[in-house]
Amino acid sequence: MLVEVVDDYEAMSDRATEVVTEQIRKKPDSVIGFATGGTPKGLYNRLIDAHENRGLDFSKVTTFNLDEYVGLPPEHEQSYAHYMWSNLFDHVNVNPGRVHIPQGMANDIDEHCQWYERRIEEAGGIDLQILGIGANGHIAFNEPGSSLGSRTRIKTLTTKTVEDNARFFDDPEMVPEYAITMGVGTIMEAKTVLLLASGERKAQAMKKALEEPLTAMVPASMVQMHRSAHVIVDDEAASQFDYRHHHGIAEPKD
Ligand code: PGA
Repeated sequence: MLVEVVDDYEAMSDRATEVVTEQIRKKPDSVIGFATGGTPKGLYNRLIDAHENRGLDFSKVTTFNLDEYVGLPPEHEQSYAHYMWSNLFDHVNVNPGRVHIPQGMANDIDEHCQWYERRIEEAGGIDLQILGIGANGHIAFNEPGSSLGSRTRIKTLTTKTVEDNARFFDDPEMVPEYAITMGVGTIMEAKTVLLLASGERKAQAMKKALEEPLTAMVPASMVQMHRSAHVIVDDEAASQFDYRHHHGIAEPKD
């Protein structure tokens, strides 16, 4: 596992941009797994800049997003489809036919989840999966307790997530209670996973994910099993580590 500790959010975003850019330049038809949330916004801004000013070409890239709310149409402001188009896809030359985001309005959700898994397989698997981590150790909507072998499926959102989301909705009926999410097992099949974390709020979860035993109670701890995990954290998110991580080795701090 390669763990890089950098100064702050900006440095984390710069470094993540180098990793994603290198992946696309090395393999223009890369399959990239994208994440939503606050963490990758700096990365996405920089990818737009790399496209506009340094010729980064997304035309052959295939994308798969981690998750989406059930019941929200893609044009809904809170949907992850809306997030991806407004924060990245609308601003680069991605081929819309190669963009995959789970469909929150699918009629048959189980069938859709199976189709999503098949599409990933048919695309040759995900080359690089971008990941954030929840303060509770979740990855995508795989909350604590999720099977470490899970596949793309529908999950009930935690009471806390539903409550946190309520403020974004005028109509309480629209607050999603379910989401479609890639499973931990699906995510771990990506050839490389790139886990990003910034800020004090993530420090405890990062410590548990990297330095404590693997457990379904911290789904992100599954990165310990991945053969090519690349973690970029800033000083605050790294502040609870007992070990100094460098060159893929963890040594006690003094
Ligand atoms: P954040 O979310 O990037 O908004 O902190 C990450 C996550 O919950 O997976």
